[in-house]
Amino acid sequence: MTRGANLAMAEREIPFYQPLGEECALFEHAYRRRLPLLLKGPTGCGKTRFVTHMAARLGRACYTVACHDDLTAADLTGRYLLRGGDTVWVDGPLTRAVREGAICYLDEVVEARKDVTVVLHPLTDDRRVLPLERTGELLEASEGFMLVVSYNPGYQNILKNLKPSTRQRFLALEFGFPPPELETAIVARESGLAKERCAALVRLAHRLRELKEQDLEEGVSTRLLVYCATLISAGVSPDFAVRTALIEPLTDDPDVKAGLLEVVRAAYG
Ligand SMILES: Nc1ncnc2c1ncn2[C@@H]1O[C@H](COP(=O)(O)OP(=O)(O)O)[C@@H](O)[C@H]1O
Ligand SMILES: [Mg+2]
Repeated sequence: MTRGANLAMAEREIPFYQPLGEECALFEHAYRRRLPLLLKGPTGCGKTRFVTHMAARLGRACYTVACHDDLTAADLTGRYLLRGGDTVWVDGPLTRAVREGAICYLDEVVEARKDVTVVLHPLTDDRRVLPLERTGELLEASEGFMLVVSYNPGYQNILKNLKPSTRQRFLALEFGFPPPELETAIVARESGLAKERCAALVRLAHRLRELKEQDLEEGVSTRLLVYCATLISAGVSPDFAVRTALIEPLTDDPDVKAGLLEVVRAAYG
């Protein structure tokens, strides 16, 4: 295969990510220096896309785990399972990443149960080990292993915050919504809708986000903008697309909804 063809293929396999600053270089430094990384930011602002993009660029597999309040350490590390009459040990995603030298991405890590931090701690200092209590193994992380976690500080849940002893083990990058030109470029690229029409949606999103402080837990995300533009691009009327992608997902409260629709009317006239 020619070098050109190789490059073209590599590009096709790397998910599109529009950098907003120096985050790609930072990720690469963290990866090379074997430092774990924490991504903070609202939902739908590109954290997951960033990690899958960087994993592909670095040629590493990426195991993503969406954390929830039932997630235990065993869900990450593994467990004994019955397989055709035999009991066999099956690695969880974290153990697989540690063995293979892959990137393990724990999305919304604060949601996980407390015992999860216990397995993360020895992996996040220079030992880079994962003790498997059940099998008695002490795994040393392979060369390419990297731990990335994300959380959304916006939920304001004091019960669910990372303890300083945990968060101070990570480099941390803050994510926010992209500046208008970049967000327009992202929405256009992801949806196929013309740039000018995407720019109008981004302007609308900015107005809607201004309401966030008062009435909404979270402002309209880049993800929702992409959905909205995708609907419009598929022929759905802009009115209906805005309603289903930018209004209804944000709130159930009739007054707040009316307020948001007011903003839409003012923007679109
Ligand atoms: N910087 C970016 N580059 C490319 N796409 C982006 C970017 N930011 C957001 N997106 C778009 O928004 C969607 C949601 O982003 P995602 O990474 O899933 O958000 P998060 O993980 O922060 O909740 C992506 O699927 C992508 O279409
Ligand atoms: Mg995500």
